[in-house]
Amino acid sequence: MSRPPKKRENSIRTAITPWLESLPRTLTATLTAQPDTLGGPSTNGPPTNGPPTNGPADTTQQLLDRAPRRWVVYEPMVLLPSGSFTSQPWPSLLALLTAAQKDTLWTAILLALSPPCRPPLTHLAINSAIPLHQTASSESEPDPAAPAPTPAPPPPKENLLRSPSGLLPLHGVFTRATPAPAANNPPDFRASLWVHTKQNGIHQTWAPTHTMFSRGNIKEKARLLSAFGGPSSLSHPAAAPGPPGPAAPQTHAIDLYAGIGYFTFCYARLGFRVLCWELNPWSVEGLRRGAARNGWSVRVVGPSSSSSFSSSSSFSSSSSFSSSSSSTSTALGTGDGDGDGDGDGNSDGTAPEPGAVDMGAVLRGPEQIVVFQEDNRHAAARIRAARAAGVELGVGHVNCGLLPSSAGVWRDAWEMQARGGGAGWLHLHENVGVDAVEGRKGEIQGLLDGWCREGGRGEEARVEHVELVKTFAPGVWHCVFDVFITGPRAAG
Ligand SMILES: C[S@@+](CC[C@H](N)C(=O)[O-])C[C@H]1O[C@@H](n2cnc3c(N)ncnc32)[C@H](O)[C@@H]1O
Repeated sequence: MSRPPKKRENSIRTAITPWLESLPRTLTATLTAQPDTLGGPSTNGPPTNGPPTNGPADTTQQLLDRAPRRWVVYEPMVLLPSGSFTSQPWPSLLALLTAAQKDTLWTAILLALSPPCRPPLTHLAINSAIPLHQTASSESEPDPAAPAPTPAPPPPKENLLRSPSGLLPLHGVFTRATPAPAANNPPDFRASLWVHTKQNGIHQTWAPTHTMFSRGNIKEKARLLSAFGGPSSLSHPAAAPGPPGPAAPQTHAIDLYAGIGYFTFCYARLGFRVLCWELNPWSVEGLRRGAARNGWSVRVVGPSSSSSFSSSSSFSSSSSFSSSSSSTSTALGTGDGDGDGDGDGNSDGTAPEPGAVDMGAVLRGPEQIVVFQEDNRHAAARIRAARAAGVELGVGHVNCGLLPSSAGVWRDAWEMQARGGGAGWLHLHENVGVDAVEGRKGEIQGLLDGWCREGGRGEEARVEHVELVKTFAPGVWHCVFDVFITGPRAAG
């Protein structure tokens, strides 16, 4: 009979045990004696958070039991789960510690988690859910001198850029203090920590205090890589009626919420040229660095020509662009280039005019990935302009990766694919209640049928598959509706 496997000691616990032993005894004694500390003798009724303790030994045990047990490494950072060190007696202990004592703890954890034969891990933080709305600190303060009655405060703005404002750095410099960039200038990317991971053999790079990283998307990325082929797997019958023209492959993929390139890089790996839209300059920079690390050339079409774009580690601060990875940058002329990246548009709520870009020139360039740092409301117009300039733009995939719903761009996504002629896929992301998935599939089919009828060219579009990626919340699936569009000729 084989022996049960030996339980492996948790590395964080291994780091914390000697650190706790090194603390002055008076400290744990104070903690044990505190009436409001979890587990301490309570004079105000039973403790709210757990059983009482009998002394410092019990307190130490509780500290070990309530230390985080899981973590993820995004080199050179360790990310602890949301809520780490919030169960008593941790908050009480942390409040009693000097900065040096806390630093010794964080350093011990980093050392214990650093893999052998790799550079040591240097930064530690606690994760937090991405807030749905911008945080209060970024909104204006109420004016105490304002005459009553004051108007109701405006509703909180949606956190469109998915900024991880709740991330709690514990150790290491995450952002170096630099003079605030002047209006319309890009942020100082050199001042921030950049972290890195590899998923499905693809490198990803991002600045954790500015950009979200969705680890849960690894499954969907793996599916894209395995379930779909490259450009030659899609047929491209001629777009216009008449005798079939020369078959051009569906060489392009479009990613409308590109982030740091989660899905963009999958299409690049499959062999597509990828056109991306992304509002957050930090995500665009992460995408650019990640693309370079994977060996893909990238061009950023951004709101400012003074961007300090460069290859993955060296930066040029001038308007000229230096890169070892054939990266280039192009400025958007006018439009929503206000540098705040919030896609606020015009005051009447209409989309601002897109900045002037010679789409023919941009897309005749050699880069495999082209990123437009602007609101994706402009994407369809840009694609139309490129086609009008004679660029052959067959589209194999359009990715619409925004939650809770990307429905706002579906009509444009359909147009960008269908007007290129030939077959291709739309991937429509949306959160849907577990019991509503079939119904939603029917509704989406209805929308597609309507657009195909209006289009009047005989395209057909069908929801071929619904991928249930992960549970977003209890009873809610993150769904991807895979839609296959056949071009007019393929539809007969
Ligand atoms: C949830 S992330 C998606 C990233 C990636 N597709 C994923 O699913 O993990 C959404 C991204 O879309 C960007 N975004 C939101 N609204 C946008 C818009 N109107 N135009 C372009 N990008 C937008 C945000 O800045 C953010 O990086």
